Amino acid sequence: MALDSNAKNAPEHVAIIMDGNGRWAQSRGKPRLFGHHAGARRVREVVEACPDLGVKYLTIFAFSTENWKRTQVEVAGLMSLFRRYITKEARALKNEGVRVRFIGDRVRLDQKLQSLMDELEQLTETNDRVHLTIALNYGGRDEVARATKRLAQDVAAGEVDPETVDGETLARYLDTHVLPDPDLVIRTSGEARISNFLLWQSAYAEYEFIDTMWPDFSHEVFAGVIAGYCKRDRRYGGVKV
Ligand code: FPP
Repeated sequence: MALDSNAKNAPEHVAIIMDGNGRWAQSRGKPRLFGHHAGARRVREVVEACPDLGVKYLTIFAFSTENWKRTQVEVAGLMSLFRRYITKEARALKNEGVRVRFIGDRVRLDQKLQSLMDELEQLTETNDRVHLTIALNYGGRDEVARATKRLAQDVAAGEVDPETVDGETLARYLDTHVLPDPDLVIRTSGEARISNFLLWQSAYAEYEFIDTMWPDFSHEVFAGVIAGYCKRDRRYGGVKV
């Protein structure tokens, strides 16, 4: 599939539910963590493809608030993979102009990982070529609940007039407050559900559910999905003029 770097209507913000690592590994007779490691390698390729495809913001779902239910071995392996990924990739991300942010509730993550996340955010804070947001211990409902709690505290403190509260007010309290809403949400691995990802922000997003397992999600597959998006007609509840 040819890359369409000049697409006028390319999605500014793409969000991805990177699913299928476990099945990809098991179909090769390997442990699930083998699939997560292969998946982590794909992240770099997909981030690097963004400028060519006209994508400025990329948000990826790395670990959900529900993923703690997995076995202790898998959770520990994923946490170790995230620590290793940040340590190994930090310099390249900085040099490639990628600004990294994390969303989700950091409190439950181990101290070492939290420090690495803070350091990577600081290291890349002046970058602007691609904005990569990694959702770690993230859940859409959890995010809205945390935002509502902080908003309620500000109302109770007299800093916000409850009469003025609307959707934009709440959006300012979300983890994603500095990001535009996603234009396109992709889920790999053939599952057609959104699993608590960016619930508020995706109200008008286009969805693409594809059969490819995340470790097979190449630059070409990404370009094909973007090309399909470019042909869509978005009306945001209105009619075409
Ligand atoms: C879903 O596949 C994937 C995850 C829960 C983890 C996503 C993590 C990565 C792609 C690793 C790297 C990420 C970063 C940022 C370094 P699954 O395990 O649910 O697959 P299955 O549905 O086949 O079991």
